[in-house]
Amino acid sequence: MKKTILFIFILLSATLSYSQKFENLAQTPPMGWNSWNKFACNIDEKTVREIADAMVESGLRDAGYTYINIDDCWHGKRDSLGFITADTQKFPSGIKALSDYVHSKGLKLGIYSDAGTQTCGGRPGSLGHEYQDALTYAKWGIDYLKYDWCNTTDVNAKGAYRLMRDAIYATGRPIVFSICEWGDNQPWTWAKEVGHLWRTTGDIYNCFDCIEDHGTWKSFGVLQILDKQEGLRKYAGLGHWNDPDMLEIGNGMPENQDRAHFSMWSMLAAPLILGNDLRSMSDVTKNILLNKEVIAVNQDSLGVQGLKVEAKDGIEVWFKPLVKGSWAVCLLNRNKVDKEYTLKWSNFNFTDEEVSKLSTNLSSVIYNIRNLWTKKPEGNTKKDKKIIIPAQDVIMYKISPLK
Ligand code: GLA
Repeated sequence: MKKTILFIFILLSATLSYSQKFENLAQTPPMGWNSWNKFACNIDEKTVREIADAMVESGLRDAGYTYINIDDCWHGKRDSLGFITADTQKFPSGIKALSDYVHSKGLKLGIYSDAGTQTCGGRPGSLGHEYQDALTYAKWGIDYLKYDWCNTTDVNAKGAYRLMRDAIYATGRPIVFSICEWGDNQPWTWAKEVGHLWRTTGDIYNCFDCIEDHGTWKSFGVLQILDKQEGLRKYAGLGHWNDPDMLEIGNGMPENQDRAHFSMWSMLAAPLILGNDLRSMSDVTKNILLNKEVIAVNQDSLGVQGLKVEAKDGIEVWFKPLVKGSWAVCLLNRNKVDKEYTLKWSNFNFTDEEVSKLSTNLSSVIYNIRNLWTKKPEGNTKKDKKIIIPAQDVIMYKISPLK
C-alpha cells in the first residue's frame, strides 16, 4: 500500500513538474512574414500595421500566411524591475495595441529576442530575464517567439533554449518557439522537445548562388543554404521543422530564381516566412507566393521533408511524399543555361527507407502528372518525358496514382 502511494506521488509530481513545449501548434510548417530580410532594424508599428493590412488585401492570409513577426530592434530599455519595454519612438502605441490590431485582422503576432546579454542588433537580450520576458510576451498576446543566439559566450545552447521553452510554457499561452542558433549546436538532435522549428544554417542572403563575406561572419545564397540541408530530413516532422531561414522572394532576384527558391523551400517542408515588403509586391512575386498548389506541397499533412534522389550535371531531382499516395517531384537546374532532360520515370522507382517508408512503385503504378507552375495536366508516367529545365529554375510536378 505504502509503495503504491509512493508510486502515485512520484508519478503525480513528475507530471506536474514536467516542462514541455506547447504541442499541436505548428503541425505544418509555420507560414507568415518577418521584418528582418527587408527592413532589418528599420521597423516600426506603422510598417507592421500596413504589412498586416497588405497580408489580408493581397490574399496571402487566406492562402495560409498567418504570422506577422517583428524581428530585432523593437526593444526599448528594461524598466526598474527588469521588465522589457518597446522602443517608444518606433512603437508609440505599444506592442499590446499592435497585437490587438494584428489579431483583429485574423493574423497572429510574433516577436524576437535572444538567449544572450544582447540581441544581434545590440538590444537587450533575455539572459537572466527569461521568465519575465515570456510573461511580458504572453501579456502582450504574442503568438510566436524567434529566439536568437548572439552574445551568448558562456551559455549552453540546449539549456538556454529549454529555459525559455519552460518560461513560455509557464505562462500558459501557446507560443510557437522558433530556435535560431544557426545550426551551431546541431539543434536537430535535441530540439524536437524544445521548439517547433530550428534554424539549420547561418543567415540567408538575397542571391541565388553566392556567399557573402561580412568579415566575422558569412551569409549564404539559396543554393548554398539548400546544400546545407543534406542529412537533416530525418529530424523534421509534424510540429518540429528544419528551418533553412526566411524567404527572399520579392527582394530583387529574378523570377526564375525566386520560383526555384519557393519550390525548394516547399519541397523541404520549410517554414514559409516571407521577407519582402508586402505593400509593394509585383504581380510576379504575388503569383509565386500565392501558388496554392505549391503551398499545398509544403503544407502536406504527412509532414515529410523531400529528398534528393538524383544530382548530375547541375540538375537535381527531388521527391516529396504526399497524402493519398501522391508525390511532389521537383527538377532543379542549378546551371546558368537551360538544360534538356529526359525524365525516365522507372529510374525513380524507390522506397523512402529513411523517413516515410513509402515507395513510388514507378515501374508498376501509373501516375497522372500535374505541372504545379503552369497549373496544367501533362499526361501520365507511362512514357518517359523530355523536358527543358530553364536556367536556375525548376519544373515542378505533382504525380498522383491513376485510379
Ligand atoms: C541573426 C538572425 C537573423 C536576424 C538577425 C537580427 O543574424 O540569424 O535572422 O534575426 O540576427 O539581428
